[in-house]
Amino acid sequence: VGRPRRCLALLPTPLHRLHALEAVLGSGPILLKRDDLVGFGLAGNKARPLEFLLGDALSSGADVLVTGGAPGSNFIGAAALAARVGGLQCELLVAGPVPQRLPVTLELARQCGAELSFVEVPREDLDRVIVDRAAELGRLGASAYAVVRGGANPVGALGFAMAAAELADQLPPLDLADPTVVLPTGSGASLAGLIAGRAAIGATWQVVGVSVSRPLTAITADVHALAAGCAALLDAPAPGRDGVRIVDATGLGFGRLTHRDVRRVRVALHAEGVLFDATYGAKALGVLVDLVDAGEQRPIVLWHTGGLPSAMKLLAEPGLVG
Ligand SMILES: Cc1ncc(COP(=O)(O)O)c(C=O)c1O
Repeated sequence: VGRPRRCLALLPTPLHRLHALEAVLGSGPILLKRDDLVGFGLAGNKARPLEFLLGDALSSGADVLVTGGAPGSNFIGAAALAARVGGLQCELLVAGPVPQRLPVTLELARQCGAELSFVEVPREDLDRVIVDRAAELGRLGASAYAVVRGGANPVGALGFAMAAAELADQLPPLDLADPTVVLPTGSGASLAGLIAGRAAIGATWQVVGVSVSRPLTAITADVHALAAGCAALLDAPAPGRDGVRIVDATGLGFGRLTHRDVRRVRVALHAEGVLFDATYGAKALGVLVDLVDAGEQRPIVLWHTGGLPSAMKLLAEPGLVG
């Protein structure tokens, strides 16, 4: 794409078979796409949108990046780090009261020099607060670049449109049938990019988005609107919905797992030594096991999006031992 991009990630991230997990589950081929190994702070998959967002910010002459999210957001910590390495100042607007102790991602952001402000507005209103703050900074003479929660705009989605091409390059040597790609979904930017990129290269994989936080109707509308916006940046028509499914994995709530979820994380950990986080990875892994149980015929690519700060939470779960 002819869009400005500032490299942050070590790409391509590895794609490899999980033979031991296949044996435990009695399944066909399972592949893991390792965005947990992206090599940029604790960013996981969020390094991908940030390459395009930072590139855009720098080429527009910005001097400060303004974004925000929930206190545990992996995106805001990664955005602060991206701003730092790109030579930009960073303001983070964090939803909720000042916490007694900063979560790991926010501590990282603070260490990178980001200015944190805690704003007690509902999370849904945060995007407006971000845009307002950038406008205010503009009036004060700064050149501010606003990024909505999760980097969920068409420019951010380009990161995963490129990831679709990356996956397409990695699959042929494995000599497998067209896979079903399972991707955990929060804001929807990654899934939207993957859908736009998949359509642009004419790939015929199935895609399953695993919604961990938003109700199905809302996330479905957001994802397809973002995919259309991203496709427009690629000079491609809006992608259709064929072969794309979004499943509701909100379950007990954001980052909350059932005993069955924890057992599945344990199976993967003990078979493969791969750790999944509670918020995203565990739920996507759960959907993968459900697909296997339902007799999925295609190879499955599970996208490991990182989220390791919240994987630490799992260590407090008694179900992980034994
Ligand atoms: C570890 C991890 N996985 C998946 C996602 C979901 O990505 P998206 O917000 O693009 O849907 C996020 C978003 O914050 C994340 O931090």
